[in-house]
Amino acid sequence: MAMISASILNADFTCLAKTADLIETAGADAVHFDVMDGIFVDNLSFGLPVLESLRRYTALPIDVHLMIQEPLRFVERFVSAGAQYLSFHIESQSDPVQTLQAIHSHGIPAGIAVSPGTDVEKVFPLIPEMDEEDFFLMMTVEPGWGKQPFIPEVLPKIRKLSGEIRKKHRRLHIEVDGGINAETSLLCRQAGADYIVSGSYLLSAKDPAEAVRLLRGDKSDI
Ligand code: DX5
Ligand code: ZN
Repeated sequence: MAMISASILNADFTCLAKTADLIETAGADAVHFDVMDGIFVDNLSFGLPVLESLRRYTALPIDVHLMIQEPLRFVERFVSAGAQYLSFHIESQSDPVQTLQAIHSHGIPAGIAVSPGTDVEKVFPLIPEMDEEDFFLMMTVEPGWGKQPFIPEVLPKIRKLSGEIRKKHRRLHIEVDGGINAETSLLCRQAGADYIVSGSYLLSAKDPAEAVRLLRGDKSDI
């Protein structure tokens, strides 16, 4: 069954605790935490102190997505602040193998994120370096902002990656992030994704629990 990770990027940060409650009550499996440094992407979001506060408040695992230029420098600090999944971009400046090893040394799953404009073949050589619980994060929008429309051209890349993982007899996960709603979640799951990030669709749903079920594909009508 797909894991649903709720992105708080577009939450009202004056009442983050309320958003965390909503996510937990809705039945999501994790909180997706988008970190931006203003260099890797042209936007700034939040970082370590906010993660520490959220960690104390929610029982859900926190899935930290680093959209920063030098993720390796920050691995230890994000793990100490409460990251339980930690992903970084292949397009960043850190060495991917060293970054994977740094994350693994803390005993948590590592994710390699791929922006829409990057050839997915670029991450194939990293498959043997990954642990069983690791994942790829296929961006289905340009990283940097929530509420953007899904880019369907990423779907064949997800299929290609999924095929390559199977060919190498591995069981790595594929997360999708950006513009995910009930319909695009289905398309991504059909293409091979099993970790689903959703921000604006989930947080603005009239019935967030129903939105989680639809994203997960618990309903036969979607
Ligand atoms: C974009 C972020 C996403 C974003 C998803 O840079 O990585 O996690 O918050 O938000 P929605 O679901 O609104 O596209
Ligand atoms: Zn994200």
